[in-house]
Amino acid sequence: MSYILGIETSCDETAAAVLKDGRHVLSNIVGYQYEIHGRYGGIVPELACRRHIEVISPIVENAIKKADIELRDLSAIAVTSGPGLIGALLVGVSFAKSLSYALRIPLISVNHLEGHLWAISLEKRVTKPFIGLLVSGGHTNLYLVEDIGQYRLLGSTLDDAAGEAFDKVSKILGLGYPGGPAIERCAETGDPKAITFPRALSKKKGFDFSFSGIKTAVISYVRAMYPVSHIDDIPGVLKGEESLISDIAASFQQAVVDILVSKTIAAAREMGIDRVVVSGGVACNRVLRGEMSRHAQRYGIKVYIPGPKYCTDNAVMIAWVGHRYYKKGVFADLRLNPDARSSIG
Ligand code: KG4
Ligand code: ZN
Repeated sequence: MSYILGIETSCDETAAAVLKDGRHVLSNIVGYQYEIHGRYGGIVPELACRRHIEVISPIVENAIKKADIELRDLSAIAVTSGPGLIGALLVGVSFAKSLSYALRIPLISVNHLEGHLWAISLEKRVTKPFIGLLVSGGHTNLYLVEDIGQYRLLGSTLDDAAGEAFDKVSKILGLGYPGGPAIERCAETGDPKAITFPRALSKKKGFDFSFSGIKTAVISYVRAMYPVSHIDDIPGVLKGEESLISDIAASFQQAVVDILVSKTIAAAREMGIDRVVVSGGVACNRVLRGEMSRHAQRYGIKVYIPGPKYCTDNAVMIAWVGHRYYKKGVFADLRLNPDARSSIG
C-alpha cells in the first residue's frame, strides 16, 4: 500500500493531494488566488509567493485530514520542481524537503508539464504512445508521449501561450481575470464568424504555434472603430457594446481553437497515432473540447480530455506522476532546487 502526498505551487494555485496506490484520490485541495491577482489583470509573482507561504501549511494539513490518514502513513512526497515562477516553486519545494526530512520518507521531483500530460490517467486509461497537447497559461506544447519520462516535443509556441492570449484579450476587452473562463462565457452570445482573426502558422508545415499576432489583431480591430491612444482605454470605449464584445470574444476563441485543433490533428496523422490527449487550463474550454473531438472523429482519432478539475493546476496529477517514479525508485534528495525553466522532451 502506498500513500503519496502531492504538492503543487508552480504558479498561482497552492495545491496538496493524497493519492493511495496510484489510483485512489483521497484528497484534492486547491487554494486559488483569483481575488489577489484579479485587480491587476494577471499574476503578480511577488504576491503569489507570499500567498503560497501563508497557506501551504494549512492546505497540506487539510489534504492529510481529508484523506483521513496521519502524516506518518505517507510513503513519499512528490513536489513540482518546475517549470513555473521561481519564488512560487521554492515555497513548495522547501516545504516538501522539510517534510521529507522530518518524516524520513523519499522526496520525488515532478515536472509540472509531465503532471498535466498524465492527468487524464486519473480518469481514463490511454494506450501509449499518444499525442499530447498541453495548453495552459504558460505553455502551448505538442508532444509525442511514449511513456513516463519519454517525450518528444513536436512543436511549441513561438511567443504567447494560448492561455496567455485568452488572459490578455480578456483584459483588453475588460472581461477580467482569469481570461479563459471569462471569454468563454462572453462568447456564448457572440458570433464566431463575425470577425476573421488570423490563424497564424496554420498553413505552415511543422507544429509550432503563434498567438501574439491574434492579440494584436483584436487591438487593431477595436482601434479601427474607436481610435484610442492606449490599449488600457479600450474597455472604456467598449462599455455598453455588449454584442460587439461578445462577437470579438467568440471570433477570437474560434481562431485559437481552429489553430489548436488543426495542428494537433495534423500531428496525430503525420505520426500515425490515433490517440490525442488534451490537458492544461485551456482544455477546460468547451468549444475546444467539442471541436477537437468532432474533427478527430473524421480521421478515426480518439480524443481524451480530463474533467476541468484535472485540467487546471492541481496536486493530484503531481502525486500520480510521483507514484510512477516511486515505483521505479527514482528519488530526489535534499539538494533538490526548483528550476523555473525546466522542460521535458
Ligand atoms: O494549467 P493552468 O491552470 O495553469 C498553468 O499552468 O498555466 O492554466 C491556466 C490558464 C489560464 O491562462 C486560463 O485563462 C486558462 O488556463 N483557462 C481557459 C479556460 N479555463 C482556464 N482558457 C480558455 N477557456 C477556458 N474555459
Ligand atoms: Zn499548469
